[in-house]
Amino acid sequence: MSDQLDRNLALELVRVTEGAALASARWMGRGDKEEADQAAVNAMRLLLGQVNIDGTVIIGEGEKDHAPMLYNGERIGRAVQANGQPDAAVQSVDIAVDPIDGTRLLSLGLPNALAVIAIADRGAMFAPEHLVYMEKIAVGPAARGMIHLDATVEENLKALARAKKRDVSDLTAVILDRPRNEKYVEAVRACGARLKLITDGDVAAGISTALEGTGVDILLGIGGSPEGVITAAALKCLGGDMQSKLWARDDADRAYARQAGYDLNKVLSLNDLVDSDNVFFAATGVTDGEMLKGVHYSSDGATTESLVMRSRSGTIRRIFASHRIHKLMSFSQVEYGA
Ligand code: FBP
Repeated sequence: MSDQLDRNLALELVRVTEGAALASARWMGRGDKEEADQAAVNAMRLLLGQVNIDGTVIIGEGEKDHAPMLYNGERIGRAVQANGQPDAAVQSVDIAVDPIDGTRLLSLGLPNALAVIAIADRGAMFAPEHLVYMEKIAVGPAARGMIHLDATVEENLKALARAKKRDVSDLTAVILDRPRNEKYVEAVRACGARLKLITDGDVAAGISTALEGTGVDILLGIGGSPEGVITAAALKCLGGDMQSKLWARDDADRAYARQAGYDLNKVLSLNDLVDSDNVFFAATGVTDGEMLKGVHYSSDGATTESLVMRSRSGTIRRIFASHRIHKLMSFSQVEYGA
């Protein structure tokens, strides 16, 4: 990666997620997922366009929502010139965005909605394309190399307990509450581990496995593939571990996988998901959560909390920022709303 990227990128990205969080947080509890998401997308796209990268969106708003902006394959960044040609002096990168992970959480005012972005060297990110779900297992650094998606839930929980020098009954697993995940729920319960069922937001849950004080030890079950790649990028920065396997909903998914050359039986390692040791990651809380505080408003502005990380240096920053809304409005085309 070029020196330019080396110096600036991690801290530039946080402006992008802060912008998305600030633009969408006004929709908290209004019951309108689409409007909230669109506000975040607009802000993220505008601010990402100001970052000096030649970026290609690998994980975008894409497949489930058929979005026209930040779609998979979109070229973005200040180094993409008006004629669509990249500035040769700037290294090309892959971009994964989730302007809001947990749009439903935000629309209902529930905890843990995040604005998220990850960047890595060009070609590093796994592109699941139309296969929108994957089976996932994610843990923090203590259990790196000790979990396997093809092992049973019991074997993985026992390995995790050994790694953390705890009993299985002291561990907490987090699983998306979906009928397709019932077998994981039953298996965790049968082992006597504690269980946290979440309605949405498995990016925050996956990252939480690698952060002290969140009370979460392992993520299990089937969730979104884009969210899986983003979680992998964060876990690269945090030194955690993750494996996944694409999951077909139906025969159409199976036919697509065959035709597009995806192996539905292949266990994808952390490196298969993000094959780079230079990953940049930023997330900003939109609603309050265990991992990050959400956007809070005051008479003249708003505050945000973000997690900003880089894998090569291993630096993990929490950035608390206070923003003057009128200032943001003066240089943005995005309605931050005061
Ligand atoms: P969005 O808010 O981006 O739609 O994602 C929310 C989410 O809960 C993800 O965290 C999760 O990976 C995915 O949806 C699960 O998909 P589904 O709701 O279709 O089961």
